[in-house]
Amino acid sequence: MKQMMISASVLSADMANLAAMAKELECGGVDMLHFDVMDGVFVPNISFGLPILEAVHRSTDLFLDVHLMIIDPLRYIPQFLAAGADLITFHLESESDPYETIRAIKAGGAQAGVVIKPGTPYEAVLPFMELVDVVLVMTVEPGFGGQSFMWEMLDKVKALRAYAEEKQLDLRIEVDGGINDKTVHAAVSAGADLLVVGSYLFKQPGISAGVQTLKDAASV
Ligand code: DX5
Ligand code: ZN
Repeated sequence: MKQMMISASVLSADMANLAAMAKELECGGVDMLHFDVMDGVFVPNISFGLPILEAVHRSTDLFLDVHLMIIDPLRYIPQFLAAGADLITFHLESESDPYETIRAIKAGGAQAGVVIKPGTPYEAVLPFMELVDVVLVMTVEPGFGGQSFMWEMLDKVKALRAYAEEKQLDLRIEVDGGINDKTVHAAVSAGADLLVVGSYLFKQPGISAGVQTLKDAASV
């Protein structure tokens, strides 16, 4: 397991000031920016897509973590790579072939990850564990920021961490949804080392104070 990293979810940021927000997050010590791309079909919400990613890519050097909540991710991989994605995660519940999608992401030089919704068992991920850089376990139903953490998802994180250790796999386990100062410790203890943080971070008085509070809470 690697040292914990924080990926700040842009979904909760002020969309009118994204370039400034990216700079603030960079200076505030977050490790990555998390982009929730939603198509209104795979999830009941529509967020943003390629032009926003491309604009933020021009305004920051931060690593860009793109979470595709779209029905056919494979079709759009070349565009997301061109727009600056450093990591692309896609849902195993989508309609694209997972092997082909992983191959397309890696062929473009980015990191690849698979995501599972709360209703999907951790076993669904096992065939891909040796092929990906990241496994993302959703800790809320995908679609909206600001939801409550689903504690029972931590059993999946534990099982995947145990499997990764047994096979000595070099991957990160990401959790997404409801991460705050009350939940971060349990997530990291279960084996997560990449934490998506949205609404909690943007409610703090400052980004760096929020990042520090999360890191302190994680290590208690
Ligand atoms: C939900 C998204 C999350 C969301 C997390 O579909 O995948 O990334 O922005 O937001 P919080 O941290 O507010 O739960
Ligand atoms: Zn997300």
